[in-house]
Amino acid sequence: MSPEEFKRLGYELIDFIAEYRVGVESLPVMSQVQPGAIKAMFAPDPPRQGVGLAGIQNHLQALLPGLTHWQSPNFFAWFPSNAPLSSVLADLVATGLGQTGITWQASPALTELEEVMTDWLRQMFGLPETFQGVIQDTASTGSLVALLTARERATQYSQERGGLQAEEKPLTVYVSDQAHSSVPKAVLLAGFGRENLRLIETDETYAMRTDVLEAALRRDLAEGHKPCVVVAAVGTTGTTAIDPVRNIAELCQRYGIWLHVDAAMAGSAMILPECRWMWEGIEQADSIAINPHKWLGVAFDCSLYYVREPQHLIRAMSTNPSYLHSTTHAEVKNYKDWGIPLGRRFRALKIWFTLRDQGVAGLQARLRRDIASARWLEVQIKQAPGWELLAPVPLQTVCVRYNPGGLSPEQLDRHTQDWVARVNRTGRAFLTPALLQGRWMARVSIGAENTEQSHVEALWALMHQEAQKVEIGA
Ligand SMILES: Cc1ncc(COP(=O)(O)O)c(C=O)c1O
Repeated sequence: MSPEEFKRLGYELIDFIAEYRVGVESLPVMSQVQPGAIKAMFAPDPPRQGVGLAGIQNHLQALLPGLTHWQSPNFFAWFPSNAPLSSVLADLVATGLGQTGITWQASPALTELEEVMTDWLRQMFGLPETFQGVIQDTASTGSLVALLTARERATQYSQERGGLQAEEKPLTVYVSDQAHSSVPKAVLLAGFGRENLRLIETDETYAMRTDVLEAALRRDLAEGHKPCVVVAAVGTTGTTAIDPVRNIAELCQRYGIWLHVDAAMAGSAMILPECRWMWEGIEQADSIAINPHKWLGVAFDCSLYYVREPQHLIRAMSTNPSYLHSTTHAEVKNYKDWGIPLGRRFRALKIWFTLRDQGVAGLQARLRRDIASARWLEVQIKQAPGWELLAPVPLQTVCVRYNPGGLSPEQLDRHTQDWVARVNRTGRAFLTPALLQGRWMARVSIGAENTEQSHVEALWALMHQEAQKVEIGA
């Protein structure tokens, strides 16, 4: 494609995206296509000869029914994954400039902008200067990197000898029973083994119980295990529960254990001084994961990973092949040694564009709007007969069930799943149900960029309408 053709098609595609955003509110939020419908639109074999991209918009238009519209103001599923248009432009520029940051020399601007952006965000989150950041793709990778680093620190770098397999004592990991699935997955991938993973019971707010954690640590020590990592959640996926970071950090210090804080969702809220109580004690954490690609609004993918003592991360991750040597090596940051992949996208541009466009104040205002909408919904639920609020609402997620009475727990589960499915089939909103203590609930996760309180009010009316249709045999 020539640059001239790129310009012409590029303007058309920008128009296409802008029109999509203008109309997204009127589209059914959850994709209504059947499995295989999108595959069936494509030939089984790749095109033999290129035909150019003219008319590609029509093909994209045909794909739209296969999209679930995360950017719709009626998206209340999982957690938000906002992609403000400023961030979209940054992604275009990042790819347009064709940078691959394998070392500082490979793209000084990419490296240094990442240093500046992770530091700006560190300040916004109220983290002390002792923390240094790097952009990972996802919080799942952040957890894996934390576990690998903790494993190496705890074994005085066993990777340089016989690895975990040669360790005398089994290393143990502690996470709350509400931890995101990516955390146990990282424990398994990092080679700890399921038998050495301890799921710590939570209290009535779904926060990790530190008395249970301490008892587990003592038991493991007495039985000849080596406690290695605690992963605390600031904002669990189910209910946004807040583990008590300070108490957990004290235990970690006492027993010499790595503390990783998974603040994938709630980390964004730390730009609000009134929310910082949620991670009091954070300065004692060894590593922290925060996803600006969720609520904050830096388009996916952009996950921050902060470490207090980077030397452990660098020692565990560094490689030094001759073809990556440069004369500046000692003076600069080489992010290849701060994570798993060698190649690095120019993700920092997305942060820069977002902050330049909206400023800290703009982001704070949007997050405060969402917290206020969640409070509004919380109040409605508390006042409405038959509706049950299932967990505290520290942020923007409201966990709820409608109990019409007279149903067994199994029938109530089916009823909850049925009415949520009915809400989703209307196309007017999208909710994702989840299990809480073994029973189904509806989760209303507020935080899409254009969700105003009026959208939450419309959702509440829709929930009422659908939940009160109890079908016999439920
Ligand atoms: C608490 C928590 N941790 C980790 C993750 C995984 O995030 P990612 O998709 O960035 O790996 C999620 C996703 O929702 C989450 O809620």
